[in-house]
Amino acid sequence: MRHFLTLKDFTSAEILEIIEIGLEIKNNLKNKVYKKELQNQTLAMIFEKSSTRTRVSFESGMFQLGGHALFLSSRDIQLGRGELVKDTARVISSMCDMIMIRTYEHSKIEEFASFSSVPVINGLTDSYHPVQLLADYMTLVEYSCEKNIVCAYIGDGNNMTHSWMMLAAKLGFELRIATPKNYEVDPNILKESLEIAKVSGAKIIITNDPKLAVKDATVVTTDTWTSMGQEDEKKERIKIFNGYMVDENLMSLASKNAKFLHCLPAYRGLEVSEETFEKHSKIIFNEAENRLHAQKGLMVWLDKQRNIRHSKLDLESNTLSQ
Ligand code: CP
Ligand code: NVA
Repeated sequence: MRHFLTLKDFTSAEILEIIEIGLEIKNNLKNKVYKKELQNQTLAMIFEKSSTRTRVSFESGMFQLGGHALFLSSRDIQLGRGELVKDTARVISSMCDMIMIRTYEHSKIEEFASFSSVPVINGLTDSYHPVQLLADYMTLVEYSCEKNIVCAYIGDGNNMTHSWMMLAAKLGFELRIATPKNYEVDPNILKESLEIAKVSGAKIIITNDPKLAVKDATVVTTDTWTSMGQEDEKKERIKIFNGYMVDENLMSLASKNAKFLHCLPAYRGLEVSEETFEKHSKIIFNEAENRLHAQKGLMVWLDKQRNIRHSKLDLESNTLSQ
């Protein structure tokens, strides 16, 4: 059973294949060609944190593919009242064809997936946000910037940073991460991505200096300084992250036509200046829209893998019964 919990479990060829399917679906949509590739399938979407993009893109995407999506807030289902993750997983996966979860600890989605009989998709955990990276990379492909990427990530060492690390490690590009001291990335995830990078030739550079990270970068990106679940630290973080805003001064050090990406929601005057955000708003909102297309690519790909697996199992059991 293939789940989509982090990019770590996917080869670079698989990541590119998912994006290619997503781009094909996007193109078809422009030409008003709707293929109902997930007809009669149901996607359960469990949200323990807020969302605009993830919810709307998965729900619309599933509908456009001929299926149906169920929005399940953990406040409204028994999971929020203490029903076990492993029981919830067995029940929901017996009734639905795919499950998307947005939650806190990454270990929770891993436990859920290990008890699920259908593919589970990570819609964000405290450690990773891999579906966002599918959309981000798709955007770079569309803007023909995917060759020789030198990407600078400025800000908090969080779920987005970890996912950029995995993407860089898998696809073999250079990623420079500048965070304040004590807000660096998870050392275990860094170690894992550096191991993968040895094979792909990726470079992952860690610094506390945003200027060093941005120098001649072809892509600059950031994310909120206060992720969901860290609201109590917001005031303190704003003080500590002073000097880490992506603004025109910082962008002037990047390569001439450097792209700026933001997963959104964006907080102007904090991680990005109003001017830089608006200057790059076209690509940023294209990146947001690509959540829809990339995730459709992902769901179609996961369904294809399941069908391949079922055909293999059928073949094996026919051979055994002969
Ligand atoms: N980028 C992103 O995941 O947005 P939402 O939190 O609105 O889903
Ligand atoms: N790092 C942010 C990403 C939001 C899409 C968070 O976890 O809140």
